[in-house]
Amino acid sequence: MSIPVAVLDIGTTKTVALIAEAAGDEIRVLGVGLAPSEGMRKGVVVDVRLAAQSIALAVEQAERMANMSIEGAYVGIAGAHIASINSRGVAPIPHGRAVTQDVVQRAMDAAQAIAVPDNREVVHAIARGYSLDGQDGVRDPIGMMGYRLEVEAHIVTGAVASIQNLYKAVETAGVRVIELVLEPIAAGEAVLTLAERDLGVALVDIGGGTTDIAIFIDGSVWHTVVLPIGGMHLTNDLAVGLRAPFAAAEEIKMKYGTVTVDDARPEEIIELAAFGDEEMRVASRREVAEILQARAEEMFGMVLTEIKRSGYDGLLPAGVVLCGGASQLVGIKALAREIIGLPTRVGSPQKMDGLIERVSSPAYATSVGLAHWGVRQADVQTLQLTETAARAKRRSEEGVFAPLLNAGDWLRRALLPEHGEN
Ligand SMILES: Nc1ncnc2c1ncn2[C@@H]1O[C@H](COP(=O)(O)OP(=O)(O)OP(=O)(O)O)[C@@H](O)[C@H]1O
Ligand SMILES: [Mg+2]
Repeated sequence: MSIPVAVLDIGTTKTVALIAEAAGDEIRVLGVGLAPSEGMRKGVVVDVRLAAQSIALAVEQAERMANMSIEGAYVGIAGAHIASINSRGVAPIPHGRAVTQDVVQRAMDAAQAIAVPDNREVVHAIARGYSLDGQDGVRDPIGMMGYRLEVEAHIVTGAVASIQNLYKAVETAGVRVIELVLEPIAAGEAVLTLAERDLGVALVDIGGGTTDIAIFIDGSVWHTVVLPIGGMHLTNDLAVGLRAPFAAAEEIKMKYGTVTVDDARPEEIIELAAFGDEEMRVASRREVAEILQARAEEMFGMVLTEIKRSGYDGLLPAGVVLCGGASQLVGIKALAREIIGLPTRVGSPQKMDGLIERVSSPAYATSVGLAHWGVRQADVQTLQLTETAARAKRRSEEGVFAPLLNAGDWLRRALLPEHGEN
C-alpha cells in the first residue's frame, strides 16, 4: 500500500509543491506546482504573507494536477541560521540483553542533551553509527546483545524565529508541516548513489540565494552547512558590472553565461537591455565570463574552506556532486574540480517516474529529494500500522476467542472492531 505524500521546497527564487507516491525503490510524481518565490531572502522567510501566497499558488497547481488535496507536507529548510554538530550519546542495555528501539532512543536522547541556546532548536538528530560495548562500526544495533550502546549523532539546529516564520508561512497557506527536512540532506536523497554515500561525497546545492553543503560518509550525514551565497549573487555582479537591470543580467547569464573565460571570445558581442529610456548597450561575452568566473571562483573557495573546516576533506573519494539551478552554468564542473581539487559531477534527480519531465533538472534536486524522504517516512508509518494490526490480530487469534474466529462472519465482525480498523 502506498500513501501519496506532499512536499514543499520553498527556495529563494522558486517555490515547488510536489505530490508523489512510492513506486518500488522509486517515487512516482503525481502532481507538480511551481510559483516564483516572494517574501524569501537567502533561503529564509522574511515576509510571511508573501511567502504564503507563493506556497498557496504552488500547492493549488499540484493539487489540481494530482486531483488530490494537500493537508500536510514535508517542508525543506535552509538558511545561514542552520548550524550542525556531531555529538555522542550513551545508554545502558538492561541486563545485557538485546538492543531495543527504546535503548536506541535513549542513546539518541542523550546525544541531543547538548546545550542548545534558548533561541535555537533541534531540526534533525540523525544517527551516523553506533558502537556496542566499545565495538565501532555498528550500523543497525537493534537485536544485538551487549551492555552499553553508544550512538554517534549528527545534530542540526536552527534559529527559533526563522523556523517559526517558515511554519507560519506554510500554515497560512493552509498546509500543516509534517516534518522539516534540511534541504541538502533531502537533495542527497535524489542525486547521490548509494556507492557515493558509502565512499564519502560532498553534495553542493547551488541555489538562488544559498549554497548548501552536506557531506555523506559511510552511508550517512557527517556534516551540513548552508552558505548565504548563490546564483542571484552571480546575476547581481553582472547587473552591477554591466550597469544593466537585474532581469536583463539574469537573461544574459542564462543565455550566454559561462564561468570559463578562455572559452568566451572578446569579439562575441551581446546586446543589453538598459535602464528606463537609456540606449541599448553592448558587452562582450568575455566580459560576462570574467564577472561570472570571478564570483564562481569565490563561491567554490568558500565551499573548499567549509569542506576543510569539517575535517573530512581527506575522506571524500567520490568527490563533489553539484546540483541546484546554478549548477547548470556552462563550465561549472571544471571550475569546481579545479578549485576544490576533487572529482566533480553535476547531478540530476534520479529514481522517479510519472510527471518527471517537469522536475528532471538539477534545480529540482531538493524538491524530488524531499519526496523521496517523505515517501520513506510514510512507508515506515504504514509499516508500523501494519505491524500493530498484525500484532492485534495475533493477540486475538492467540486469545480465548481464537477458536471462535472461524465460526462465522457475524462473529468475526462482532469481535474484530475492538482491534481497530486496520
Ligand atoms: N541554465 C542556467 N544557467 C545558469 N544559472 C541558472 C540556470 N538555471 C537556473 N539558474 C540559476 O539558478 C538559481 C536558482 O536555483 P534554484 O532553483 O536551485 O534556487 P532556489 O531553490 O529557488 O533557491 P535556494 O535553494 O538558494 O533558496 C538562480 O540564480 C538562476 O539564475
Ligand atoms: Mg533550493
